[in-house]
Amino acid sequence: MKPTGIAVIGAGNRGREAYGEYVLQNPHECTVVAVAETDDERRRLFSAEHQIPGHRQFESWQELLEEPRLCDAVLICIGDRDHYDVTMKCIERGYHVLLEKPMAVDPGQCLEIPAAADEAGITLVIAHVLRYTPLFYTIRELLDRDAIGRVVTIQHNENVGHQHFAHSYVRGNWRRAETSSPIILAKSCHDMDLIFWFAGARCQSVSSFGRLIHFREENAPPGSTEYCLDGCSVFHTCPFSVAAVYLSSPYRWPTTVVTPDSSLDARIEALRRGPYGRCVYRCDNDVVDNQVVAMSFENGVTASFTLSGFTHEISRTIKLMGTRGEIRAHLEKNEIELHSFSTKSVTTIRPHAGTGKHGGGDHGLMRSFLRSLRTGNHDYIVNARESAEGHLIAFAAEEARKNGNVVQMDAFVEASKT
Ligand SMILES: NC(=O)c1ccc[n+]([C@@H]2O[C@H](COP(=O)([O-])OP(=O)(O)OC[C@H]3O[C@@H](n4cnc5c(N)ncnc54)[C@H](O)[C@@H]3O)[C@@H](O)[C@H]2O)c1
Repeated sequence: MKPTGIAVIGAGNRGREAYGEYVLQNPHECTVVAVAETDDERRRLFSAEHQIPGHRQFESWQELLEEPRLCDAVLICIGDRDHYDVTMKCIERGYHVLLEKPMAVDPGQCLEIPAAADEAGITLVIAHVLRYTPLFYTIRELLDRDAIGRVVTIQHNENVGHQHFAHSYVRGNWRRAETSSPIILAKSCHDMDLIFWFAGARCQSVSSFGRLIHFREENAPPGSTEYCLDGCSVFHTCPFSVAAVYLSSPYRWPTTVVTPDSSLDARIEALRRGPYGRCVYRCDNDVVDNQVVAMSFENGVTASFTLSGFTHEISRTIKLMGTRGEIRAHLEKNEIELHSFSTKSVTTIRPHAGTGKHGGGDHGLMRSFLRSLRTGNHDYIVNARESAEGHLIAFAAEEARKNGNVVQMDAFVEASKT
């Protein structure tokens, strides 16, 4: 089997660590033939890892896509706000595409992208990696086997983890809605997609509440400083200080985002005046640190969702309540509890954990995408039109949160088309 040639646009955390890692571990399946990355050091590192020749190393996605088609597929792993333009250009160029979520930052664009791909005969998959995570597809299989009867209601929690929240949504790339997207889209389009998948019908109406409660200047402890390393009086006790998040743990994510150099000196240097060294109470963040969403679906299923930046662990927990049983699942523990009402039994299921992050979902997605390209069988991947549904629920939730209203999905989707 000839490995599928791919180009990577954005060799940051996702391009390098999630998908690049898969390529290195599976050279018989795929090979990276080109990269576009604006950051010189990241481009150099990634090119060295994948032995990409100089003439296939580009400083921007525009440069790469000006070239004639270089390979079969492109992995789009740059910032949220560029997704639409890059994807449309890739489709025009005839590349198959794996597009990071969120697929776009505008609901109309989320409808346009899959339509354009279909028209051009392009394979397009959105990186809703949790669909490819053994824990979640095992739940879907249980529902398909009628293990809990008819699903009546779903409770789902996105436990962001307090340090992850501080890193990504207070100091990091996703701290402001206008430069990335609202957190319900950036982080939880995954969760809206899961709920939609498990509900088994289109969403009918949505309401939502939430605001930025904690990471604001008025909550800064006395004696705290602009940067943690400026002699902050709570340096050793603040759970969000750089000491807790980046200096006390081994060199791994999120520290890999702060500096590509693993030495302690390099970390300290990057944290002195860099964005990740800032006091979490003095950043220019505006995305909410908690949000709840209530949903009703066309088949009568109801669902509630809670996103919180104030959890001890990074995990997702879900409870699905059916007419004949209940499913409780914990992603980090990779554990599903199946309760049967009739036999009063509890079965614990630990699905075969895959490799890669997101409980095996990152590698599961790559494997499925490549298999789909090789075989031409699209059953291995989730159709991008279906992926748009979860995005649309997220946009509707944000509108409901901002305006304090209940959003009717039909009207919302219609208005998004114009
Ligand atoms: N599927 C998931 O679970 C998941 C998880 C995290 C992030 N994401 C998404 O993945 C995308 C990338 O996130 P990340 O964490 O890898 O971010 P990142 O900042 O680590 O990587 C993005 C890279 O794109 C590069 N870049 C920016 N503009 C460019 C341009 N014009 N041309 C070429 N390269 C350019 C940057 O230099 C950077 O290295 C985002 O859209 C994010 O929302 C998805």
